[in-house]
Amino acid sequence: MIILFGGQKGGTGKSTLVMNLAIERARDGRDVLVVDTDKQATASKFAAVRTAREVAPHIPCVQIFGKDLWKELQHHAERYDDLIVDTRGTDGVELRSAMVVADMFVSPVQPAQADLDTLERVQSIVNEVATVNPELDSRLVFTRVPTNWVSTDFQDAKAFCADYSEFYICATGIRERVAFKRTHTYGTSVTEAETRDVRAATELLFLYEELFNDRGKGSNGQ
Ligand SMILES: Nc1ncnc2c1ncn2[C@@H]1O[C@H](COP(=O)(O)OP(=O)(O)OP(=O)(O)O)[C@@H](O)[C@H]1O
Ligand SMILES: [Mg+2]
Repeated sequence: MIILFGGQKGGTGKSTLVMNLAIERARDGRDVLVVDTDKQATASKFAAVRTAREVAPHIPCVQIFGKDLWKELQHHAERYDDLIVDTRGTDGVELRSAMVVADMFVSPVQPAQADLDTLERVQSIVNEVATVNPELDSRLVFTRVPTNWVSTDFQDAKAFCADYSEFYICATGIRERVAFKRTHTYGTSVTEAETRDVRAATELLFLYEELFNDRGKGSNGQ
């Protein structure tokens, strides 16, 4: 399976989710490769820390840039069970190229107006790509959701997105939790014993199930 992370806004947690989910996938016994297509190299650096610290399971990570990314992904897909692809926070040649061969496109979005305003652009990219990859399963996941229990940002954002019928909207929200920042320093995930955070781990595992094991309806019934 080729699962691609991207969008039209920086800092939404794409690279963080890529690495946390890749680790979970590998812990599940899958042979997983992270493909970092962002010259910022956040995922590559995370993976390098993990390798340097010899944390098991090892997460292989390669950097690939340019328009022929889709060909490289096809080659790697023959060797690995899963490819998890990270892209930068704007539209670009790597995002377009990977979308042509991806099985799933996941766009992490913060439940804030400035982020929601970018969804029209993401929607039009998905629609353009549908002409060459009509099977692409496109999903929105809300990230960095406020933990304050009086905040209605998550519910409001889900309601705002209800009309985006191109997307499955993940029922799971990833909350703003310091554990995601701390674990990055160690090259570990929020689920691993060394750096486990129960609340972050629970949310991450719910999202993992929703993306990899549940092809049911999202919160918008798509
Ligand atoms: N759920 C979260 N809770 C708290 N901090 C988070 C969360 N997700 C990501 N972060 C932090 O936010 C910052 C940006 O995260 P990350 O690099 O994953 O975003 P990105 O979408 O990949 O950014 P870019 O668009 O620049 O590639 C990092 O410092 C990361 O540790
Ligand atoms: Mg990133």
